[in-house]
Parts: sequence; structure tokens; C-alpha cells
Amino acid sequence: MSKPPQAQDAAAIPRHIAVIMDGNGRWAKKRGLPRMFGHREGVKSLEEVLRACDSIGVRWLTVYAFSTENWSRPEDEVQGIMGLFCDTLDRKRPDFMKENVRLKVLGSRAGLPQKVLARIEENEAALSGNTGITLCIAFNYGSRRELLEAAARCAASGKAPATEEEFSSLLWTCGIPDPELLIRTSGEQRLSNFLLWQCAYSEFYFTETLWPDFRREQLLEAVRCYQARVRRFGGL
Ligand code: FPP
Repeated sequence: MSKPPQAQDAAAIPRHIAVIMDGNGRWAKKRGLPRMFGHREGVKSLEEVLRACDSIGVRWLTVYAFSTENWSRPEDEVQGIMGLFCDTLDRKRPDFMKENVRLKVLGSRAGLPQKVLARIEENEAALSGNTGITLCIAFNYGSRRELLEAAARCAASGKAPATEEEFSSLLWTCGIPDPELLIRTSGEQRLSNFLLWQCAYSEFYFTETLWPDFRREQLLEAVRCYQARVRRFGGL
């Protein structure tokens, strides 16, 4: 039997991996803990997955941290995620400087509390000169809102985009290549309003593993699975 390709096969490493980090709440519930414990453990997974991506040559990692629909969660969880997000950005900044990690936050800035906006702007600016892997955090992100806002900008300019590239440049992901691989953890198999335009040709990888249990080994397994796929982009 031929050996499956290794994640270290540099030629077949996805340039951009997108992740729907799902299952934090269930991870906590299984342990009789409040949901925020799951989110905090999920940040550890994010740190490990970012390092693993960097180590194999992935250039962009986009994670779905807070959707435009997540505002409907209980107030204490929303506040908890906002706080964890800001604290994590501030805590990781020295490491990201050392490790040459660039940061981009994707999503609507409207509706975000002023203190969250300030943490985003300060940390993005501080890391903007880095040239290594880019961590994109989708925060207050919803793909339909992103598309609507792009359509509104077209209408306001009075000029319809002539190409897909032109339309892409109106999205929050402007300048970011489309993900070759989209991973969703926790057994759910849907996009949940994430990167609808950008994932047109992405390979999807679904796993039962809950996000807090998804670490380096699980990431390498997802990349190995991606490497075994045949991508045809609508051709033969
Ligand atoms: C999905 O699990 C997870 C979220 C909606 C929040 C993810 C947020 C973080 C990991 C923290 C954000 C911080 C940074 C720095 C990115 P779920 O709560 O929907 O889990 P469940 O489906 O098991 O209930």
C-alpha cells in the first residue's frame, strides 16, 4: 500500500487554511464546567494550530471566533468572549512580534464596543510590519453582511465590478487569497455564514473532534487528508 502523503510535503501545503472552531461549549459541558472554560481551552488550541501551520509553511490562517449571529448568546458569554479576545490579543502580542506573525481582524467594526475596537486597532497596527504567517480572526463576521456591504459599495460607486477579482477586493478579505482548505470541528457540517464567496473551491474537512481537543496532530491529519484530494476546479 502506498504511504499517504505527509503534511511536510511542501509542494502540497495549503497556502491558506480557514477554521470554524466549533465545540467549545460541549467540551466544557462534558466536564461539568461553564462554557467559558471551553473557550479558554479553545484559545490554547488556536495557539498550537497557529504554530503548527507556521511550521509547515501555511501563510494564512483564518479562524471564526465570533459571528454576527453570536450576539444572541447569553450576555455573560458574549462579554466573556469579548474579554478573552482582547486579553488574548494583548497577551500574545510579544510572542507574535518574536514569531513574525501578522494579525488581521475581519468583520464588521460597527457594533463592537469602543474598548474592543481599540484593542483590535492597536494590535493590528503593532504587528502590521511582520512578514510571516498572517492570523486572520473573523470577529463580528458574517459572510452575508460582508457581501451586502460590498454590493452597497458597488451601488454607491455607480460601477459594477467587471471581474471576480474586482468584487473580491470589495470584501473584508481583500488581499487575502481564498482558502484551499476549510476545517470544521465538532461534527457539524455546515458553513454557518463563513467565507461563502471565498470558499467556492475550498476543500472541506469535517472532524468529530471538539475544538479544544484539536491540536498539532489533528491539524497535520487534516492537511494529509487535503493532500490526498484531487482538486479539479470544475474541470476533468
Ligand atoms: C464555537 O463553539 C466557538 C465560539 C463561538 C467562540 C470561539 C472563541 C474563542 C476560541 C475565543 C476568541 C478569542 C480569540 C483570541 C480568537 P461553541 O461555543 O459554539 O460550542 P458548542 O457548539 O459546543 O456550544
